[in-house]
Amino acid sequence: MVFASGTGTNFINIYNKIKDGDINGEIVLLISNNKFSNALKFAKNNNIDCQIINIKNCSSEKEVCRKYKTTLDKYYPDLILLAGFMKKIPIPVIRKYKNKILNIHPSLLPKYGGKGYYGINVHIAVLESNEKETGATVHFVDEHYDTGPIFLQEKIAVSSSETPEILAKRVLELEYLIYYKAVRLFCEGRVLIKNNTVEIK
Ligand code: GRF
Repeated sequence: MVFASGTGTNFINIYNKIKDGDINGEIVLLISNNKFSNALKFAKNNNIDCQIINIKNCSSEKEVCRKYKTTLDKYYPDLILLAGFMKKIPIPVIRKYKNKILNIHPSLLPKYGGKGYYGINVHIAVLESNEKETGATVHFVDEHYDTGPIFLQEKIAVSSSETPEILAKRVLELEYLIYYKAVRLFCEGRVLIKNNTVEIK
């Protein structure tokens, strides 16, 4: 199952890896908060079940939570991938699916994670701090932003002459690579979490 709000290129990349037989899995549902998202359009065009969950269509936070719960319980996913999902998932849902929700973040967490660090902001901050390296991180989702156990992380060098947009593009390429690796490992049953630390068998 995938949650995505925007262009959904990480989602599309995972979809293609499954289609090519590189990942032993199936995307059973795409959840989006954004009815205009490219992710939703792609899912519809490729006959993937879709669901929009948006506070605007619900009367309260409680109803949002209920909607997540009933939807997830219907599909009961083995793994949930957040791929550019811009909404906070209700805590009861995170608790129920503990160690089953992954997120991809465009920095070397714990650096440049948490509130405000999304999209191009991350890369602007990296360049402004004159970092020599940056990268991408796949982590399990806990109750806070970008703080769950780190699963995979890879680095690239930062050039002081590059723009945030160029850096974002290079990091995104790295994201495709490590999200794919992480999902493949998970689907092969090679991932264990012990004492909040990820072990790869
Ligand atoms: C990626 O940079 C990801 O790290 C972040 O949101 C962006 C989503 O991009 N969480 P896309 O929608 O997969 O193209």
